[in-house]
Amino acid sequence: MKVLVTGGAGFVGSHTVVELIAAGHDVRVVENFCNSERWIVERIERITGQTLVLDELDIRDRAALLAVARDYAPDAVIHFAALKSVSESTEMPASYYDVNVGGTATLLDVMQQVGCKHIVFSSSATVYGQPESCPVAETAAVGPGNPYGRTKLIGEWLIRDCVAAPGSTLSAAILRYFNPVGAHPSGLMGELPRGVPNNLAPYITQTAAGQRDYIRVFGDDYATPDGTGVRDYIHVVDLAKAHVAALNALSVGTDRELTLNLGTGRGYSVLELIETFSAVVGHPIPYQRQGRRAGDIGECWADPALANRVLGWRAEKSLQDICADAWRWQQAIPGAVD
Ligand code: UD1
Repeated sequence: MKVLVTGGAGFVGSHTVVELIAAGHDVRVVENFCNSERWIVERIERITGQTLVLDELDIRDRAALLAVARDYAPDAVIHFAALKSVSESTEMPASYYDVNVGGTATLLDVMQQVGCKHIVFSSSATVYGQPESCPVAETAAVGPGNPYGRTKLIGEWLIRDCVAAPGSTLSAAILRYFNPVGAHPSGLMGELPRGVPNNLAPYITQTAAGQRDYIRVFGDDYATPDGTGVRDYIHVVDLAKAHVAALNALSVGTDRELTLNLGTGRGYSVLELIETFSAVVGHPIPYQRQGRRAGDIGECWADPALANRVLGWRAEKSLQDICADAWRWQQAIPGAVD
């Protein structure tokens, strides 16, 4: 298939581009590098052995996007391009709605103009807000607790409305990621947080590398086995493969709209993650217990049964794989380690 990937140099996007090419798809990327590095493109090319066709543009630039879509005539779009920081979204909500909602609306409009029939959308388990119970199934109530999560939920609604529109030929897979972590096993690609990471996994690897003094463990009084927050950490390569499987499912044509959780179905606590990383790194990683972080929830882990069944896919990599790959990447990031 000819697949147009928006945000294809980002964390999940770059890994998905690699898996798409490995699966034999023809790929073209649109990217504005607002939260990614140009040299990731060369890394993708090194891993795949293919030249990547990339257009540098902002998805809100309708004319530029339409020109690419007309020229390429994609069979499908995988839509990653978005702003993704929860804390930043509370500070600049209008920008988040503009890029994440406005950009998605522009993309859908362009897709309709060129007759592109399939979209795979990068959503988030954040749409569930504080889940009533775990594991969380797709039927659970939604209610995101921050602007970022609301832009993802509105993106979902927007896509479903386009699928349901009279005469529409669009089909969509809406993928709700739990906690994407890890890195490419080659050590050539991974997450590139800007500034101090908000998320736990990059904070751990930077602390293990000596760039930060200690990890702040936010909250030890949650109703979880060791009192710290429990999450469903999924290896980014497993996540990337699910996108390829979703594309296949859409092309078969059985379902016009799929909403699927992408997680492992297993939760790990903050302390379990730190312990596993410490074992992989070979020395203890310092941490200090602190109060809860505002807006955090105690536990959130997926029921991935629907994705397992519909996509014929399941997350295969272990927490050890996640830590080993993330650590290999941390040590290889240009300028990352003294
Ligand atoms: C956060 C976002 C979520 C987003 C997800 C993926 C919030 C409230 N939620 O989820 O919307 O989809 O990232 O990027 O920001 N922790 C520490 N110390 C740290 C950082 C985190 O103890 O320095 C703990 C947290 O309390 C939590 C766990 O580690 O229990 C995971 O945190 P994090 O990686 O930020 O992800 P989420 O909070 O699940």
